[in-house]
Amino acid sequence: MLRVGQKEVDAIAKVLLSGKVFRYNIGGECARFEKRYAKFVGVKHVWMTSSGTTALTAALAGLGIGPGDEVLVPACTYMATAVSVVAVGAIPVIVDIDDSITIDPDAIDDAAGPRTRAVIPVHMWGMCCDMDAIRAVARKHEMLVVEDCCQGVGGGYKGRMLGSFSAAAAFSFNYYKNMTCGEGGAVVTSDPNVSERARCMIDCCNFYWTGRKEGVVPFLSNGSRASEVEGAMMNVQLERLPAMIRTLRRQKKRILAATARTGLQPIRSHSLDWECGTTVMWTLPTVEQAEKFRELVGGTICGKTGRHVYTEWDQIFARQGAHHPALNPFTLPQNRGCRRKYTKDMCARSLDILNRTVMIGNHPDRKAREVAATIRKVKGAAREVLGVGC
Ligand SMILES: Cc1ncc(COP(=O)(O)O)c(C=O)c1O
Repeated sequence: MLRVGQKEVDAIAKVLLSGKVFRYNIGGECARFEKRYAKFVGVKHVWMTSSGTTALTAALAGLGIGPGDEVLVPACTYMATAVSVVAVGAIPVIVDIDDSITIDPDAIDDAAGPRTRAVIPVHMWGMCCDMDAIRAVARKHEMLVVEDCCQGVGGGYKGRMLGSFSAAAAFSFNYYKNMTCGEGGAVVTSDPNVSERARCMIDCCNFYWTGRKEGVVPFLSNGSRASEVEGAMMNVQLERLPAMIRTLRRQKKRILAATARTGLQPIRSHSLDWECGTTVMWTLPTVEQAEKFRELVGGTICGKTGRHVYTEWDQIFARQGAHHPALNPFTLPQNRGCRRKYTKDMCARSLDILNRTVMIGNHPDRKAREVAATIRKVKGAAREVLGVGC
């Protein structure tokens, strides 16, 4: 959700004209953003990255996840969640979502196996996962929790910010997200050891600039370092975020309240006061009704976005896990005991929910009368599709 103004232009211009675009300028823009974002999220360490995917990969590498490990991922997320698991040499195991569109804690419980090291709850489309239940089930199975907050920037759950509920978490700042610098991301954690490892994954040469640390054994990795241009833009974007999220939440609550007696079933929210409010979703009784409803209100069928459902993850299905066969986690001997079979109907319950769920997007620049028009449209569509309502 690109919202920029003169402040971003000025901040970027200042960096460019100073000539200091490399992030290891002491007290530079990236460092300032990382400090501020750590406070905002409520964690001790933040490292900016080039993307949400590299942030997720750094989080998993930071936690030492690798070959021989399974990581549970939800059936509804962008493929990058599963990609990050394979990128560290581990195997993604796909599990169902529930009527909240987020990962089902019972499905985590059912899927936990002897190789399962971690679960990645994804705060999808601005919603938040059921973190209490997820953390309880993860504790039971001694699993790590790694939040994918790429679509939950600025959101929370029961009074705490998303990203603060897990051993490590990842954010994306790409064009579609609640804050953006075009492309970018951040990995967050409160564990100093995980933080150092994540930093090494982002930039294994960082010690040339920031000094060698006693007791830290670095490893090699690809670079995914952010630049000061991104840092400068993110510092302004962070100022915009709280007011924007408040507006989105207000819009969502207004739409939900005004359509409460239409017979429409909104998806279950785990924390309506704290989620981002970026979308409003309703699950219709049948696929046909969902399609008709979508035609009338606009918006999208959640199962038909073309990229957020596991059935669209081509390389996972083809088990093409690396550029070279010898590096492919799907064929590594260490992963022989992991579950590596994927079928299109493996999460049929998720497909059923997603194909019956219609999503409309909110926008912070929408005027009150535009929200009122949306409400009228939703009510009219509900009457036509469900035959009830006011
Ligand atoms: C849920 C989720 N996870 C991970 C990512 C990856 O983020 P990026 O595109 O910044 O690599 C995205 C991006 O859209 C996402 O939506």
